[in-house]
Amino acid sequence: MEFTAKSGNPEKQRTACVVVGVFEPRRISPAAERLDQLSDGFISNLIRRGDMEGKIGQTLLLHNVPNTLCDRILLVGCGRERELHDSQYRQIIAKTATTLNEIGAMEAVCYLTELHVKGRDSHWNVRQAVETIADSLYTFEQLKSKKDTARRPLRKMTLSVASRRDLTDSEAAVKEGLAIAHGVQLAKDLGNLPGNICTPTYLAETALSLSKEHNSVATEILEIADMEKLGMGSLLSVARGSRQPAKLIVMEYKGGKAGDKPFALVGKGLTFDSGGISLKPGAGMDEMKYDMCGGASVLGTMKAIAELELPINVVGVIPATENMPGGNASKPGDVVTSMSGQTIEILNTDAEGRLILCDALTYVEKYEPETVIDIATLTGACVIALGKHASGLLGNHSPLIHDLLNAGKSSGDRAWELPLWEEYQDQLKSPFADFANIGGKEAGTITAACFLSRFTKKFLWAHLDIAGTAWRSGDKKGATGRPVPLLTQYLLDRCASN
Ligand code: BES
Ligand code: MN
Ligand code: ZN
Repeated sequence: MEFTAKSGNPEKQRTACVVVGVFEPRRISPAAERLDQLSDGFISNLIRRGDMEGKIGQTLLLHNVPNTLCDRILLVGCGRERELHDSQYRQIIAKTATTLNEIGAMEAVCYLTELHVKGRDSHWNVRQAVETIADSLYTFEQLKSKKDTARRPLRKMTLSVASRRDLTDSEAAVKEGLAIAHGVQLAKDLGNLPGNICTPTYLAETALSLSKEHNSVATEILEIADMEKLGMGSLLSVARGSRQPAKLIVMEYKGGKAGDKPFALVGKGLTFDSGGISLKPGAGMDEMKYDMCGGASVLGTMKAIAELELPINVVGVIPATENMPGGNASKPGDVVTSMSGQTIEILNTDAEGRLILCDALTYVEKYEPETVIDIATLTGACVIALGKHASGLLGNHSPLIHDLLNAGKSSGDRAWELPLWEEYQDQLKSPFADFANIGGKEAGTITAACFLSRFTKKFLWAHLDIAGTAWRSGDKKGATGRPVPLLTQYLLDRCASN
């Protein structure tokens, strides 16, 4: 899909389709107004007759509108003008994309990017449009023998900006939007691939091919023997039950100066979580193929920042393994020693995410990172607490939390903070080891973060629990690619503030 930004009048466009907005109740947008004047009131007549109210979700496709140069005009309902916020804007753009894809226009010039979204500028409008269009046209058909693709799919989208002065900035917005969309797409593909294809080895190969595409990315894969040497007894205790070899994927992106401390991203790469000996119930277990979405978001973010050539250094680490019951699997009650030297009583083998992350977090100490963010589909409790709209956010440094909350707001990929108070730490007490890997049924997302906090004392750290946001269930089941937009935004913001 190709995107361009352009400033110019709708009546001058020689294109397959011009897209303009209609507000509720039956009020046409400025761009629609110009086409209306040119066509002697063709559009306003239709609206007056009641063909279109302007509600979000409505569209009306017009052919051969008098005096116009375009083949078609697509009217898109935009709701009430004063209520046009981020989510309405995204809905309008998504509806536009799916409609254009169905009607077979193949290319279009869209004036909806000129709409005034509360508190947003043209840069935001354009970037969000690119991301939203790519998101809504995404399909995952690589495993179907008969593909269900559109006959004449949308190929080229021109996004209009009102003022010529905003054009350079809008071109940058297109670039950012595309890079993020590519990162999101990679994260979605990896998430949607089943556990028998997307194994730890597959994730490692994906990381290696990323460094083939970009000279700025170097990838190193640590094997089980390497992890043994490092003393990663916690990570390896999860891998024991599986026939698939575990991998520790280490990617270094070098866009900054040699001495610049890197930002570290650590993503849970659990390619299938059966629960292990503490086996999960059967219903819905297929969705545990998505338990590597944290790792996928690290790969997606690395791709996005490499494409954008951000002037910073970033290290991405993905502990990758399956969690399976097997003769050699860890058992409830087992005590293991982590790379940090701290011992852990495994009371539930299904609380495995924290067991693989803790060693990866200790591993990143050697980079003396600027900040460390881990990303994990860590707790079902987070889905109960926040649902699918916000990722859970906890950490040990409030400016970092603040930066991530802001990056979430501006990228539209939001997070919400939960408390990481000392009082919760008691829930991890163990009579047999330094602490246990579970903290009882109360505050499950917080106690999981408490566990991680014991491995993050040496740096500024934040944890994103993406159990509710990384994929959708039900009839629209599929990976979302979150939080690639949030992470990329955070890193973009950090470039701007350096
Ligand atoms: N990967 C799961 C978390 C999860 C469950 C994410 C359901 C999304 C939907 C994680 O490894 C897990 O099993 N966590 C347990 C922890 C518990 C045993 C303390 C959970 O949330 O039930
Ligand atoms: Mn689990
Ligand atoms: Zn898991």
